[in-house]
Amino acid sequence: MAMSDIATSDRHFIMKTIRDFDVKNKRVLVRCGFNVPFDEKGNILDDFRIRQTIPTIEYLVKKKAKVVLMSHLGRPKSWNMKHETWNKEFSLMSVALRLEKLLKRQIKFLPDCIGENVEKKIEKMKPGEVVFLENLRFYKGEIENNPKFAKSLAKLGDIFIQEAFGVCHRKHASIVGVPKYLRSGIGFLVEKEIKVLTQLQKKSKRPLVIIIGGKKVKTKAKLINKFLAIADKILLGHLIEKEIKKKNIKLKAPRKIIAPIDSLSEQGKDLDIGPKTLNLFKQEIFQAKTIFWSGQLGLTEQKKFSKGSLEMAKAIIKSGAYSIVGGGDTIAFLGKNNLRDKFDFVSTGGGAMLVFLSGEKLPGIEALKNL
Ligand code: 3PG
Repeated sequence: MAMSDIATSDRHFIMKTIRDFDVKNKRVLVRCGFNVPFDEKGNILDDFRIRQTIPTIEYLVKKKAKVVLMSHLGRPKSWNMKHETWNKEFSLMSVALRLEKLLKRQIKFLPDCIGENVEKKIEKMKPGEVVFLENLRFYKGEIENNPKFAKSLAKLGDIFIQEAFGVCHRKHASIVGVPKYLRSGIGFLVEKEIKVLTQLQKKSKRPLVIIIGGKKVKTKAKLINKFLAIADKILLGHLIEKEIKKKNIKLKAPRKIIAPIDSLSEQGKDLDIGPKTLNLFKQEIFQAKTIFWSGQLGLTEQKKFSKGSLEMAKAIIKSGAYSIVGGGDTIAFLGKNNLRDKFDFVSTGGGAMLVFLSGEKLPGIEALKNL
């Protein structure tokens, strides 16, 4: 089903977009969300997030901007406020190589993201060229939103474009620090994410069914009561249900929640939803007009525990409801099973998307308002 009449919102209109800037000959610093999954051998498992940034990069190249791309990858030591130096495991080099292939143009990868050498290389750029910086999280200044680090990044551009929707829930230097020092706006991807997710929150066709699974359940559990305000039904995976119980979260509308009633288990652990749960969930899916899904319902790394999530994906597609899916692992899982393209909208956000949908403010978006 196609989404017509995409709602726009206040949050959308008070921000500048990439179209609002004359970028010719300007250094445009783009915060990208290239945090992609890798296998044990260091191969990129899924380049969806890289592909989604291409329209913005191509637009800037065509407009003869000097394009400077920056991103994080994973959680190097800086995540625990420790200093980090270059670390092969977290280098963005292979992402740069993949981007080069996808863009079909040469890009220059720099082995650092701040400092004199980086500044010199950027000074020499010609209009239409693309430079790609090394992982921002090699500096703990990124995580702690150190103003000095943010200023060092801001020195590399004349204009800042936010295109990393998946990280907009983080108060990091490249997200909330840099826009303090540069004219700033959003790219095409962030614009689309905001439009579609605002529509889902405010104008979705009813019934709206939300499915929340996955492993990172701590933050999700906290948001459940907020989702209750917008959803008709919320279907939960085992892990999140347990987290709600463990934290003793009082649910405002318990009748809207549908928790698993059986499971496939091993060594006392519930590793997938069972057939009765699947049937129960499918009944809700087939009544829905809008469905939002984030987080698999089982341990999909193992085929024997993938059935619940696979069957749910197929049911969502078959239902004809307007379907939105998000979360890094979920979109990689759907990509691997050739089902991703069958969803109406695939968000590049995980945690950020959930925070946005729950009605909380995203620091990365707030930082761009009224500039
Ligand atoms: C992302 O890129 O998907 C988000 O930033 C999540 O990664 P983080 O939890 O390490 O910030």
